[in-house]
Amino acid sequence: MKILGTGCASPSLAVTNKMLEEFLDTSDEWITERTGIKERRLMTSEHLLDLAVEAARKAIDDAGMTAADLDYIICSNVVNEYSTPALSCLIQGAIGATCPCLDINAACAGFIFALDMAEDKLRAGKAENILIVCAEEPTRMVDWNDRNTCVLFGDGAGAAVVGRGDAMKTVRLTTSSRKEVLYQVRRLEPTPYLDGEREFAPLVMKGRDVFKTAVSSSTADIKAMLAETGIDPSQVKYYVLHQANERIIDSIRGLLGEQPEKFPHNVERYGNTSSASVPILLDEMSRAGKLSKGDILVMSAFGAGFTTAGCILEWTK
Ligand code: UT7
Repeated sequence: MKILGTGCASPSLAVTNKMLEEFLDTSDEWITERTGIKERRLMTSEHLLDLAVEAARKAIDDAGMTAADLDYIICSNVVNEYSTPALSCLIQGAIGATCPCLDINAACAGFIFALDMAEDKLRAGKAENILIVCAEEPTRMVDWNDRNTCVLFGDGAGAAVVGRGDAMKTVRLTTSSRKEVLYQVRRLEPTPYLDGEREFAPLVMKGRDVFKTAVSSSTADIKAMLAETGIDPSQVKYYVLHQANERIIDSIRGLLGEQPEKFPHNVERYGNTSSASVPILLDEMSRAGKLSKGDILVMSAFGAGFTTAGCILEWTK
């Protein structure tokens, strides 16, 4: 597998910490100090599909292709307005592709899970060009009266077109079933036969627990991948990490004993956009000319599940 093109899209409204102070018992100082986030993008007139389609079109264009060249679409998504059909089906129609597609939900680690699936399809000779779109609206999962959660998230979409190559040096995926640290129970339609009341709740998160697990698991994943591949840390150009909290990124960096320049971030502008965060950052870096052919990138993401995913990828564009 190798990455052939990337794209991203964000809602037009930037909501600053100051704007949150108007209705929440919070402050720009607290949010900045504890998370590094200064603003996040939130949907107003847009729908998530609009962002997904824009990111997808940019990635296809960047790869020098048309939708007709795609033979598989994987969409990483936790929630969107449609329970069915899958968001990937809607994206397929909107961009004018005709290939099979499916959605996956590996929470914030979805992009790397999708890269791994794509790698398998390409290796098996079942596809030539695969579109991955990570489109997320976590701001629709949180209670906007809960300062512990709503300040952390933003909406957005990131995409990549991948094709055959040997850029993927290793992948590491882990899942440990620990619902209690991060979950949302959505409301489903009642039936006349259900026993008892079914509860639903906006996002529940044990922030400190998630923080600690994210730091320890991501650091362990990165060390294990470097040891497995024999890649020396000095060969790594960038660590492209899930953008949840600047302090999480800093803690991982500290444990790895690395320099700040190797840890690009945009969490200050987007907040946590779930699985879209890694491909949005990757696209921004690519378009800013920060990536060169042969660069070794270490990616790592973590989220609800608890799920972690990491990979080491050579930039080949
Ligand atoms: O993709 C994965 C998704 N989730 C994450 O990555 C989240 C990981 N966790 C974190 O990023 C951090 O744990 C948080 C940013 C959520 C919280 O930071 P913390 O340094 O762990 O703070 P804390 O939970 O220890 O809370 C400290 C205080 C509490 O007040 P008391 O109980 O000490 O009086 C909170 O009520 O900060 C309070 N607090 C706030 N104050 C102002 C929590 N949220 C806010 C807020 N504004 N928005």
